Amino acid sequence: MKKIEAIIRPFKLDDVKEALLEEGIKGLTISEVRGYGRQKGHKETYRGSEYRIEFVPKIKIEIVIPDNKLEKVIEAIIRTAKTGQVGDGKIFISDISDVIRIRTEESGEEAL
Ligand SMILES: Nc1ncnc2c1ncn2[C@@H]1O[C@H](COP(=O)(O)OP(=O)(O)OP(=O)(O)O)[C@@H](O)[C@H]1O
Ligand SMILES: [Mg+2]
Repeated sequence: MKKIEAIIRPFKLDDVKEALLEEGIKGLTISEVRGYGRQKGHKETYRGSEYRIEFVPKIKIEIVIPDNKLEKVIEAIIRTAKTGQVGDGKIFISDISDVIRIRTEESGEEAL
């Protein structure tokens, strides 16, 4: 199983969510987060040489999926979240060793 953490623009959430549902994902978690990438948010000159770093609001989507869905889920996120402008976000992918459904104590892919 893989975990995808996608940081996206908040206004893209509905489109991304719809595309993910079409891929048959079983659950997801979202959080309102703030961060910055290479442009360090909105960079401003402040008192000559100082810069102020802004944390830009983003949405983080976390999804755990079977390995065989990875490619299509990533394609769906890119297709729906991309504007082509800086700040479109990023997708982090990691391995998940196990999942347990608390109610039934099922584990592994059955528990997704
Ligand atoms: N290396 C990182 N580690 C953790 N979070 C990151 C990292 N890079 C980006 N993020 C998160 O993703 C958000 C969007 O990043 P962003 O799209 O600006 O990345 P970028 O590398 O600057 O690419 P671009 O040049 O397209 O803007 C950031 O606000 C931050 O929340
Ligand atoms: Mg950036």
